[in-house]
Amino acid sequence: MSNQQLSLQLEKAGGLLVLRSKDIPSAPAGELVIKIHATALNPVDWKIQSMPQFLQEWPAVLGTDIAGEVEAVGEGVTKFKKGDRVLTQGAFAPARASFQQYTILQEDLVAKLPESVSYEEAATIPLGFITAAIGLLAPWTAALNPEVVVPPPQYTGQTILVIGGSTSVGQYVIQLAKHLGFTNIITYASKKHHAYLTELGATQTLDRAAVPLSALGDAISGTIDVVYELVASTESQDAATQVVRAGGKVVSVNMRDVRSDAVKEAGAGKHFYPVAGSSHMPGQEVFGAKVWAKVEKLISEGVIKPNRYELLPGGLNAIIPGLERMRKDEVSGVKLVVRPQETEQ
Ligand SMILES: NC(=O)c1ccc[n+]([C@@H]2O[C@H](COP(=O)([O-])OP(=O)(O)OC[C@H]3O[C@@H](n4cnc5c(N)ncnc54)[C@H](OP(=O)(O)O)[C@@H]3O)[C@@H](O)[C@H]2O)c1
Repeated sequence: MSNQQLSLQLEKAGGLLVLRSKDIPSAPAGELVIKIHATALNPVDWKIQSMPQFLQEWPAVLGTDIAGEVEAVGEGVTKFKKGDRVLTQGAFAPARASFQQYTILQEDLVAKLPESVSYEEAATIPLGFITAAIGLLAPWTAALNPEVVVPPPQYTGQTILVIGGSTSVGQYVIQLAKHLGFTNIITYASKKHHAYLTELGATQTLDRAAVPLSALGDAISGTIDVVYELVASTESQDAATQVVRAGGKVVSVNMRDVRSDAVKEAGAGKHFYPVAGSSHMPGQEVFGAKVWAKVEKLISEGVIKPNRYELLPGGLNAIIPGLERMRKDEVSGVKLVVRPQETEQ
């Protein structure tokens, strides 16, 4: 086997993504080399290109959703062997990202992939699910299951609102909320996705074309204990803060524009938690490992259903036009997936 792989590399902040050859890494102690059979595209993969503060090594490699097979194991690895089907979340570091054909990841952040789930389906899970899990469960956010015990504590009688339920993360929030036993799972999304979101666990759907975010409170009766906000706008953060009950919890994917003002104005001890959806970030790895240890079971028991996806032909070459479609907001309710091994130079 050649020791070379293809990798889509960002030359500099705001620069071009270029297909290049590079060495296939060998496995450091405690880590796995994974041959990537499928990866998915996420909004962060176009947003981060103009945020060089998050990319320390150049040329950078993007992409964090990984589904593939173990190619090699480093010294001391006990849970995996060559040939295992796995999924994991990559990191924005050249050796650990997913817009390439091989990557390395530490074994405690990797899960085995049940045979019933394809690589393409599995690639829709890592970033979306981890962001949902950190926002709802982690001790520093809504803390609904900080030790990630299965079965989890039940929130019977409580209500959660998911603003942007048809987003990839939103679909995992709905499924986790169902697993956590919330009695009412209200979601705000385009009408065309309502039936599917109901299948995933939503108990009430609000049409985003009919209800402006500023009028969300009028469209909902009863108190809301938790809001997970996925639209990432200040308007959405304000709406979330307004509708949650006194003492309730708002989780937001928007880390850049935290509306602490809105929280202060709303008063009444409302809690606001911005989420960084990474199991690699310093301080988040221990919790991340607790989540990854449960992923295989959650998938095989059907608690986590992958997002619906659209497979883009052309391997890594399909990523640039795919990200452009996402930037223009032309992707709705599906994850874009590519197969890096199909790439031709
Ligand atoms: N902080 C973090 O670590 C973190 C991690 C992951 C994601 N994010 C952010 O979270 C957001 C969602 O990410 P994702 O990957 O889940 O997104 P995605 O799947 O790419 O989201 C696409 C969906 O957004 C929905 N949408 C757009 N504007 C909306 C609005 N005003 N109200 C309701 N729904 C709206 C569209 O829904 P309809 O088709 O129903 O209209 C579309 O289906 C992005 O901004 C992303 O950058 C942050």
